[in-house]
Amino acid sequence: MAVEPVPLFLAPMAGVTDLAYRLLAREVGADLTFTEFTAASGLSRHAKHSWLKVESDPRESPFIPQIFGGDIEEMVATVKLLHDRADIIDLNFGCPAPKVCRNDAGAALLRNPDKVVEMVRACIEASDVPITVKMRLGTGSGPNTALEICKRIEDEGVKRICVHGRTLRQRYSGEADWSQIRDIVKAVDIPVIANGDVVDAQSAAECIEATGAAGLMIGRGAIGRPTIFHEIKRDLGWTQEEPLWGEESDAVARFWCWERYLKYAGEVYDAGECKNLKRHAVSFTKGLPGASNMRVELHSIQDQKLLGARVSEYLRELADARAMVV
Ligand SMILES: Cc1cc2nc3c(=O)[nH]c(=O)nc-3n(C[C@H](O)[C@H](O)[C@H](O)COP(=O)(O)O)c2cc1C
Repeated sequence: MAVEPVPLFLAPMAGVTDLAYRLLAREVGADLTFTEFTAASGLSRHAKHSWLKVESDPRESPFIPQIFGGDIEEMVATVKLLHDRADIIDLNFGCPAPKVCRNDAGAALLRNPDKVVEMVRACIEASDVPITVKMRLGTGSGPNTALEICKRIEDEGVKRICVHGRTLRQRYSGEADWSQIRDIVKAVDIPVIANGDVVDAQSAAECIEATGAAGLMIGRGAIGRPTIFHEIKRDLGWTQEEPLWGEESDAVARFWCWERYLKYAGEVYDAGECKNLKRHAVSFTKGLPGASNMRVELHSIQDQKLLGARVSEYLRELADARAMVV
């Protein structure tokens, strides 16, 4: 299927898309990256753990922190605090986590379009940094509100909308409904990015066909596999570039990416602050021969350098043998 190139976005993912991972994803084909969602309540109170989540690096340009909250004043205060460092600020109306929704934030806000519009308006008025939005289709109780909200926030001046084709109630179950994304694409003039269930070149092409979206956002398909961006571009004929890892072998690609992740982590984090290292180690080795035994070993390694080196050693051996079982 011949499809015109569109930008590919790495989805914001808590516990996954840390700064080192975002730099890696960009290097291997992601056009845009976001921080994981960060609480406006924490940022506006200057909580250190929240501010660590919105660190960036000159190599990540544009820099797009994503924030969430149920309190409009806190959201506005946060936008003002991020004003100097952010190129764009993304507002989250998609998180289904009960602890977020309980505070009338994330996807729970979709039950109240007026409040979403008011929040978006207040954030836009607070700063001249462009505001974008990421949302679900609705809450799943009652009619979906995304279409109405998208039209109204376009009028407020939102620059881009990303729609995950599921409701809050669905969380991650069922299939993403790309047809409702298409309805939104048709109804607004600003770029709409389609999100949900894009995992390879075929689903990317199908999603573009089905939605007419101006870009695709990829989440779970990019966990432990940042090369998905290059693979989609390669398989759809959007790039002729040789892969940076030299050859089209999954084992070689994974080893190369892991080493690169460690390099970025060493550059951007103070020693011991790479809190997602173990989680990435599990994702980067998922499905590989002997990976579960190696992971048991990892549980007893506390030192980050040793942990990184153990995974490197394991992946290097596989890459050398080019043995691969998925
Ligand atoms: C582990 C994990 C963490 C996530 N964290 C966030 C987040 O911080 N902000 C957000 O807007 N969406 C978050 N999401 C949702 C994804 O951005 C994306 O919308 C969703 O996974 C659907 O896309 P996919 O089918 O490509 O995975 C998260 C998803 C996962 C799996």
